[in-house]
Amino acid sequence: MPAPRSVHVCSACGHETPRWAGQCPGCGEWNTLVEELRGRPAGAGRAAGQRTGGAVTPIALGEVAAEDHRRLSTGIGELDNVLGGGLVPGSLVLIGGSPGVGKSTLTTMALSNLTAAGRRTLYVSAEESPAQIRLRAQRLPGGGALAIPVIAETDLQSVLATLEQERPEVCVIDSVQTLNCAQLSSAAGSVAQVREVAGEVMRVAKANRIAVLLVGHVTKDGALAGPRVLEHLVDCVLQFEGERERTYRTVRAIKNRFGSTNQAGVFEMRDDGLVEVLDASALFVAQATRAPGSVVLCAMEGTRPLLVEVQALVSPSELEPPRRVVTGIDRNRLALVLAVLGRHAGVGLGAADVFVNVVGGVRVDEPGVDLAVALAVASAARGVALESGPELPLACFGEVGLTGELRSVAHAERRLQEAAKFGLREVLEPGRCGTLRDAVRLALRGERRALASA
Ligand code: TYD
Ligand code: MG
Repeated sequence: MPAPRSVHVCSACGHETPRWAGQCPGCGEWNTLVEELRGRPAGAGRAAGQRTGGAVTPIALGEVAAEDHRRLSTGIGELDNVLGGGLVPGSLVLIGGSPGVGKSTLTTMALSNLTAAGRRTLYVSAEESPAQIRLRAQRLPGGGALAIPVIAETDLQSVLATLEQERPEVCVIDSVQTLNCAQLSSAAGSVAQVREVAGEVMRVAKANRIAVLLVGHVTKDGALAGPRVLEHLVDCVLQFEGERERTYRTVRAIKNRFGSTNQAGVFEMRDDGLVEVLDASALFVAQATRAPGSVVLCAMEGTRPLLVEVQALVSPSELEPPRRVVTGIDRNRLALVLAVLGRHAGVGLGAADVFVNVVGGVRVDEPGVDLAVALAVASAARGVALESGPELPLACFGEVGLTGELRSVAHAERRLQEAAKFGLREVLEPGRCGTLRDAVRLALRGERRALASA
């Protein structure tokens, strides 16, 4: 059998060349050639390749033997939740996140719990030496992490051979970008390598029913051959968000073949590992500053309501165009909200720098954040604190429409309940104010009071 050889295939026209080139000789497109392996041993490729030509008899779905989806608990409630109730044997889970967010910590903790529960585990590190992994493990509570079997290996074939020999029930591969397939000439981390690594790991994992947690780095701009190319391949994609310098991290599922993608878990990075934050709302409400520019948002983290503080700062700009800086929300949302504030609510900020931040490193990716951004900015611009009562921050949620109307968002009832639970009686929301102008006027009542007493 010939050894697999690598070819470069154009992703636009399918033209093959033995050597990489910037421009495809077939169709003339630029940067479309991606390396692939040819002439693999039979059975190594897709299962469909084994049955060539013959017709296949379809069967009714009801007659398909149901797979036993017995789940393996990672011992981390928030993570199990996001996974849809634990790890499914033989599944491939991709955990993406920027460097330093805590991917290695989270996966080590999960393996530690699984090992303690008597599961066969394996931690494959292609990034750190065993001594470095040990250093991390020592910080984690309980000391259970020291029992995890580890290998430090970057060669894909060695890792696959180890998996087949050890047959762990759960395995962590840290990371998909640093494993290297020797038959491909492209550098580790390139699209060709990442795809090959993930494909081969999946083949071995499915054959041996190994649940694999595949760690992947995503850069801020997503420019690196990121885990994006793997999303369709794996069963579950978890996104680990938060910033290295901040305490709070969220894990959410953006794809899950075995559960919903509505779940999210909140963690706090401490000296001794990640700790689940079970009552994040209480924490954020207690910490809310109630100063001008601050408002509490009734957000949804998946199906769970979460109260977070949104802060804004408005200051005269010396730049043209002025600065728009956001953390924790989409930049475009700020642009839209500022435009509507200026056009429909009488708060023009054309000559001011605007900064918006969701406190604690939480990222809010839902339209309900609009009103909070608008009110925080209006409050900052006018220098008026927003309160819903003595010592109580004002809460809000709602989407802002282009014509200045407030649009309702999902789970209004749950958001209101969460606010009520923390004594925030007054919540500005689309059910109460029809337009952004009304909401701003209601929120800034204090302004008139302050003027009256002056
Ligand atoms: P790490 O899990 O290595 O991140 P990733 O694998 O995503 O790159 O850890 C991220 C940061 O967390 C690292 O800078 C050190 C810090 N950290 C703690 O604060 N407490 C801890 O217990 C551990 C293990 C790490
Ligand atoms: Mg790491």
